[in-house]
Amino acid sequence: MNTNLSSSAPSQLETDCLVVVVLDRSEKDQSEKDQSKKDKPAVTVESSDSAVREAAKDVVSSGEVTGKTFETTLLHRPAGLKAKRLLLVGGGKARTFSAAELRKLAGAAVRTLKSKNIRSFAFVVPESTVPASQGVPAIVEGAFVGNFDPGYYKSDHNEKDQKIDALTIVVPGNVQANAHADAKALESAMQAGRIVAESQNFARDLINEPSNRMTPTVMAERARKMAAEVGLNCETYGADKIKQLKMGAFWGVAQGSDEPPALIVLRYDPVGAADKVHLGLVGKAVTFDTGGISIKPADGMEKMKYDMAGGATMIAAMRAIALLKPKVKVTAVICATENMPSGKAQKPGDVQIAMSGKSIEIINTDAEGRLVLADGLSYARQLGCTHLVDAATLTGAVVVALGYVNAGIFASDDQMYERFANANKQAGEKMWRLPLDDEYKETLKSNIADMVNAGSRWGGAIFAAMFLKEFAEDTPWIHLDIAGTAWMEEAKPWIAKGPSGIALRSLVEFVKGWGA
Ligand code: BES
Ligand code: MN
Ligand code: ZN
Repeated sequence: MNTNLSSSAPSQLETDCLVVVVLDRSEKDQSEKDQSKKDKPAVTVESSDSAVREAAKDVVSSGEVTGKTFETTLLHRPAGLKAKRLLLVGGGKARTFSAAELRKLAGAAVRTLKSKNIRSFAFVVPESTVPASQGVPAIVEGAFVGNFDPGYYKSDHNEKDQKIDALTIVVPGNVQANAHADAKALESAMQAGRIVAESQNFARDLINEPSNRMTPTVMAERARKMAAEVGLNCETYGADKIKQLKMGAFWGVAQGSDEPPALIVLRYDPVGAADKVHLGLVGKAVTFDTGGISIKPADGMEKMKYDMAGGATMIAAMRAIALLKPKVKVTAVICATENMPSGKAQKPGDVQIAMSGKSIEIINTDAEGRLVLADGLSYARQLGCTHLVDAATLTGAVVVALGYVNAGIFASDDQMYERFANANKQAGEKMWRLPLDDEYKETLKSNIADMVNAGSRWGGAIFAAMFLKEFAEDTPWIHLDIAGTAWMEEAKPWIAKGPSGIALRSLVEFVKGWGA
């Protein structure tokens, strides 16, 4: 998709479709008391161009347009506009409208238009509620996310998948005329939005692939190819290195599969980076999780191809980081393997010695993500990382706790959490912090080893996080459990069913925050 900025009056733009946000400005209890408010229109068309408001006037005053979130109204040959069509998209209550909602509206506009075979459109920044500096990247990000289609292996994929080719973002008219610096800033905000969104879709590409086409080896190849394109350092290792590093927990999972595992290390080390901070991104990349000997039921097992989402997200985040060039050192460690039952597979009751030297009694071979991450975290610390973030589709329990809406965040350090929460808010991704009290540590106890890998089913997401904390040790650390959010169970107006690319935007924003 081509993207460009325009500061011409929206009514003068020649485009297949002009997209304008409509907001609900009614404030129920106030309007009754306050006479002056009563006359104000409840639904507003968010453009400073009076010709646009005029073109929408009849349909808006008819009451058919309510401004409800994701409501779309398409007008053909709108009077007084050069655009062929006018699409009004509802943004909900003006009071709560922000860049996060705008991002989704852009996705919804793309999905509405592409279903109608429209290939290009212009989106007007609703400048009275979201400043252009935030609106421009939000629109780009939302549009790219909305343009993604997961139907790769349908034989008519290329004919059916009518993607949007061109997006024009209409910014306030004074930008280019009066302030050259503003225009340049918006241009780079647009490019940055594009890099982030394309990286999010890169993650979704990797996650969408089935396990026969996205083995650990293929994943390592994809990481190497990406690294060469953006100028990152990439090393990929196999079983020998995993054994040599004494990654007994990672190997315990990998040993059961005929498909060789891969340890993927991506390094970004810019000149001028502060030498005190070295961020480590650790990803779970189980390219298929059968459960191993503690095998999962057949029902829904096909979804376990997305058990590499955490690792894919870290690889894709490194792409965005390499292109955005924040001044901070970042290393990503991705542990890729299948989790299979076989004659070579680890069994319940086995004891594995992790890279850190800690011994683990395997109670359930389906609790494999924490095993591969344990050694990934230790390795990132050995490489000198001062702050760690991991992302993993780690537990079904996080879905019980937070459903499909919020990802779980766990943090060992409040300051680091504050930074991450800010980045998360900026990125418009939903995540919710869960606790790591010492009391939970009880449940890690084993009779034979330092800890078990699985305990009672209550608080299962917290147990898994407590387990990981043993391997992050005293290094400030954040753990993202994305089991419920990495895959859209159903399509939403702004996004297709399938891989979501959750956490990528927050991670990139978080890393940028250290390098500003
Ligand atoms: N990959 C799963 C977690 C998962 C569940 C991801 C649902 C996506 C959707 C993980 O490896 C797993 O199997 N966890 C077990 C742990 C249990 C055996 C302690 C679980 O959550 O049931
Ligand atoms: Mn599992
Ligand atoms: Zn798993």
